[in-house]
Amino acid sequence: MKISIFGMGYVGCVSAACLAAENHHVIGVDTATQKVDLLNTGLSPVIEAKLPDLIRRGVENGRLSATTHAREAIETTELSLIAVGTPSREDGSLELGYLTQVTREIAQALRDKHGAHTVVIRSTVPPATTEQLILPILLDLSARTLNRDLFVCYNPEFLREGSSVDDFFNPPFTILGTDDDQTFQLLTQLYAGVQGEKIRCTYQAAEAMKTLCNVFHALKITFANEAASILHACGTSAMEAMTLFLKDHKLNLSSAYLRPGFAFGGSCLPKDVRALVQLGTSHGVQTPLLEGIHASNEAHLDRALALIERHGAQKIALLGIAFKPGTDDLRESPALRLAAQLVRHQYDLRIHDPIVRVPALLGANWAYAQRLLPDLARFLENDLDKVLDHGSVWVIAHAAPEVRQHLLNRPCKAPVIDLAGQLSRYSGQLSYTGLCWNPGS
Ligand SMILES: NC(=O)c1ccc[n+]([C@@H]2O[C@H](COP(=O)([O-])OP(=O)(O)OC[C@H]3O[C@@H](n4cnc5c(N)ncnc54)[C@H](O)[C@@H]3O)[C@@H](O)[C@H]2O)c1
Repeated sequence: MKISIFGMGYVGCVSAACLAAENHHVIGVDTATQKVDLLNTGLSPVIEAKLPDLIRRGVENGRLSATTHAREAIETTELSLIAVGTPSREDGSLELGYLTQVTREIAQALRDKHGAHTVVIRSTVPPATTEQLILPILLDLSARTLNRDLFVCYNPEFLREGSSVDDFFNPPFTILGTDDDQTFQLLTQLYAGVQGEKIRCTYQAAEAMKTLCNVFHALKITFANEAASILHACGTSAMEAMTLFLKDHKLNLSSAYLRPGFAFGGSCLPKDVRALVQLGTSHGVQTPLLEGIHASNEAHLDRALALIERHGAQKIALLGIAFKPGTDDLRESPALRLAAQLVRHQYDLRIHDPIVRVPALLGANWAYAQRLLPDLARFLENDLDKVLDHGSVWVIAHAAPEVRQHLLNRPCKAPVIDLAGQLSRYSGQLSYTGLCWNPGS
């Protein structure tokens, strides 16, 4: 393929050299003449392992060159990758000025070019940038039609500086944000030499997941550093503890606890978060991330209450009151805390939980329920249908599979507010609102 790459920084140079090594013809474009001159003499403008050799070979065999002229690059290629910088602005948002500028240059050059062209955005951008910012510029200035003579893909880059050439060929996966079959096929062909699954999705999902990946990496580093700082301060080997922690691929290094849902609770998580934070504080160790966990969990509970309030119904059927399904443990249950708030706000509440029976509650479990909602028994009802008949909205904190099936089978259904995401795949059969996700997602 004949490819132009805009932005000869870390991402652009590595992509250019690797694609040239895959026998594509690549022309790099940058506004910095120094970078363009270096590339044209076969030298790398950035320091990266394995890159100098690839660039030298690419230039020597005529598959790699560079220019400062966007128009020339567009005229001689069929596909353009955009890899210009999107640095932080002072307020934390991303500076998209380089991206919009280069998009304008590409679009203006496309107006005078014959033949179809594909534009692939590789710069990291906030969700909705391709649809709301890039496409309008491209379509307006190029006077082309999307998916007829202009094809657009958002394709995030996962390379890490220091190992970027290896990462280019071995990414975790290739994410291709496009609504068009032809574009997906073309990009799959472009990355034929790249390992891993090629996954097609919307522009927005591709944009969002890239940012989430980086934020999650930052979160992991910060978690490890805060945890180690506390352990170290109290004389425990942080390295040994973390080595053991990392051996758990069932709950720690896995997809467990990473699906959006309701607030956490129960007899272990809240108390042990408090205990670790307190241990740090007692040793003078500041842990803003760990300290923020409870505030974040409270904000999520408040979000659920606000969603119910916005719905406007007074008669509420709440399904699930234990801290999770399959137990009668009410300690620090977010559902019980939500129920207590609803009662305080004078909602007419009925609750069903197939496991929880007030007379059977004992010890700390009974004491917690007493403290939070002393007349819980008044709101609990064994008969699921009575609760459902009562509610002009059904709020689902959690529901066992047979309860879910019962809801779906009922001829007469109330609107559903799904706090844990358990009913999202049935949203087409319900009047459905997710706590922080769209129906069907
Ligand atoms: N560096 C990484 O490890 C990495 C990894 C994945 C994704 N990303 C993302 O990729 C994007 C590029 O990152 P980078 O580190 O390669 O950036 P960089 O700052 O190293 O390079 C950007 C290049 O774009 C050039 N440029 C600016 N305007 C231009 C224009 N109008 N025409 C042509 N060139 C122009 C600049 O001169 C510069 O050489 C960013 O959005 C970044 O967040 C970076």
